[in-house]
Amino acid sequence: MPYSAKFWSAAPTYGEVFYARAVGKAPEMESSKATARQLKGVIVPGSHVLDVGCGTGHYLRSLRREYTFPFSYEGADITPYYIRLAKKAYAHDSNAHFRVASIDDLPFKPRTFDIVLCCNVLLHLPDIVKPIRELWRVTRRTMLIRTHIGTTNFRIQQVPEPAVLKGKKDPVFRTNGEPIRSNFFHNIYSERYMRWLCGTLPDVADVSIEQDKDFDPHALGSAQWPEEKKPGDLTEVWNGMQVHHYILQPWCFLRVTRKKDKAH
Ligand SMILES: C[S@@+](CC[C@H](N)C(=O)[O-])C[C@H]1O[C@@H](n2cnc3c(N)ncnc32)[C@H](O)[C@@H]1O
Repeated sequence: MPYSAKFWSAAPTYGEVFYARAVGKAPEMESSKATARQLKGVIVPGSHVLDVGCGTGHYLRSLRREYTFPFSYEGADITPYYIRLAKKAYAHDSNAHFRVASIDDLPFKPRTFDIVLCCNVLLHLPDIVKPIRELWRVTRRTMLIRTHIGTTNFRIQQVPEPAVLKGKKDPVFRTNGEPIRSNFFHNIYSERYMRWLCGTLPDVADVSIEQDKDFDPHALGSAQWPEEKKPGDLTEVWNGMQVHHYILQPWCFLRVTRKKDKAH
């Protein structure tokens, strides 16, 4: 199991917060509302939507609120606990299905889904070439990715302290400077690199990159949470930018559309 996946398995409280959002016991995420709005005119009655790295399917709550017509939703996530919670949250929704799957090897035939979403996942992975190819392989019309895109590339690796590693007392870094056990990132890719990467995909009609400024700054940050329920790792807002720990986050939506194909 890649470390990035271990990180999520070892973070059950994320699942509980995601679950509370999915069932309406906590507010929808700003990014989930923004993602739903991004699909205006793209999602239509009968659309098949795949959400990769879906957590507990909490984005479906925003999609169902925004679009009341019928569409099907499939959520895929590498963390089995999140998928169990997702199935519980949407037991009443016969058009929502969830499965454990890795973004590196999606268990779907090519072009199965009209719309493929992947939000807040790619930045954390050590490599995005195979994941983007997989997402695109299963996309029939539109792939919408939310991740950090800026003017240059930064590889930002989060290295946990021994206290976080359940009492392990190792020195965290090897003598060559490499972390002993971290494969969890907050990477920023340049717009040029992202466009280059999308240019290697087959049958692309259009690539667009838009900064995600579609959030209410008052809805983010720790101030809105009661002390006893406050999740760790909250996003704050500083000068109009979202901040995570020390990192200013250049959140963007990358949208890739496929050429119309007579055979499909
Ligand atoms: C930051 S959370 C994002 C969840 C949700 N999309 C959101 O924006 O709130 C990252 C999610 O990606 C999942 N994930 C991490 N690595 C993955 C992989 N290789 N394949 C599929 N899902 C993965 C994690 O289990 C977690 O649910």
